[in-house]
Amino acid sequence: MLEVSCDILKPGMKLAKPVYNLSGLLLMKDGDMIYSQNIDQLKTNRVDKIFIQWPNLESVEVVSVIKDETRNKAIDFVRTSMTNTYQSHILEIESMRTQVETILNEILSHDDMLLNLTNLRAIDDYTFGHSVNVCVLTLILGTTMGIEEKSLKDLGLGAIIHDIGKLFVNQEVLNKKGTLEQKEYDEMKQHATLGAALVNNLNEVSEQVLDVIRYHHEWYNGAGYPSGLAGEEIPMAARMVAICDVYDALTSDRVYKKKISPQQALEYLICMGDRQFDFRLLKQFIKHIRIYSSGMMVRLSTGEEASVLSNNANWPTRPLVQVTTDSWGKPVKEYKVVDLSRNLGVEII
Ligand SMILES: [Fe+2]
Ligand SMILES: [Fe+2]
Repeated sequence: MLEVSCDILKPGMKLAKPVYNLSGLLLMKDGDMIYSQNIDQLKTNRVDKIFIQWPNLESVEVVSVIKDETRNKAIDFVRTSMTNTYQSHILEIESMRTQVETILNEILSHDDMLLNLTNLRAIDDYTFGHSVNVCVLTLILGTTMGIEEKSLKDLGLGAIIHDIGKLFVNQEVLNKKGTLEQKEYDEMKQHATLGAALVNNLNEVSEQVLDVIRYHHEWYNGAGYPSGLAGEEIPMAARMVAICDVYDALTSDRVYKKKISPQQALEYLICMGDRQFDFRLLKQFIKHIRIYSSGMMVRLSTGEEASVLSNNANWPTRPLVQVTTDSWGKPVKEYKVVDLSRNLGVEII
């Protein structure tokens, strides 16, 4: 079985697991052959990844960070709750806390804190999926740092509603395809303070939750907004969410830009190092994320396709792979194993 991104899916492949849409409706069954119209249908339903059969490859058990069911329920909840907040200016904070606790309990049930992020986005729904993804990523980061559970819950709550202020920003500005004009950019930037004011006015929440909402766009070098705080002046919770927020935004399709690969997103984070982010926290984030899961199909710069065998914890963008098809797309007779950390001329594209 191989995990394949719908971007590199080809007609003729056979499904190894059923595929569901965002509402949980079955789109294709286990064993179904994939035709080009199915690829279009999967993309229309914003399915990002599926599992296909592949001869003579051992079956791999891909462990997700959180179950699809938990993630989809959380997204549904956030969607309904945010719609209510928009209409009534009331936020059901206690139910939101329950969602965060469910996610946290699942994360804490894993022994392996090198958690697989590749399944985070089985189905894409940016507006509300982003809130849930940032919550999951922040909770993983916090867990690997040994932060105590009570504080993790507040951190997760802040993360899941970090962009709540966007409800009160003009949708045309938020979804504008081109570059924002200064006036529009100023309006968009207000979401941080608007969000914090809303939550502060309506609910009993800790300072940590408000810090995340208010300061998640501050930069470590002081160039961010709304207050231009720098370094340790920025509360740690906000510095953590800032990393997870940018990582998720970069790896998501938006109306105004295409997503980039996890590998390119990591490169961006590293390049922005201690200008935008707290570099110590960034190193912790990078150390604990696994951007390729075993059994995932990737395309190499040689034109060949390969299946990921194992990750390299010291160099997450260069796993051990075995080549499954040649550069003409034909399945190879014998699988060649390539260690990308030793073959620097070859990369995953
Ligand atoms: Fe934001
Ligand atoms: Fe965000």
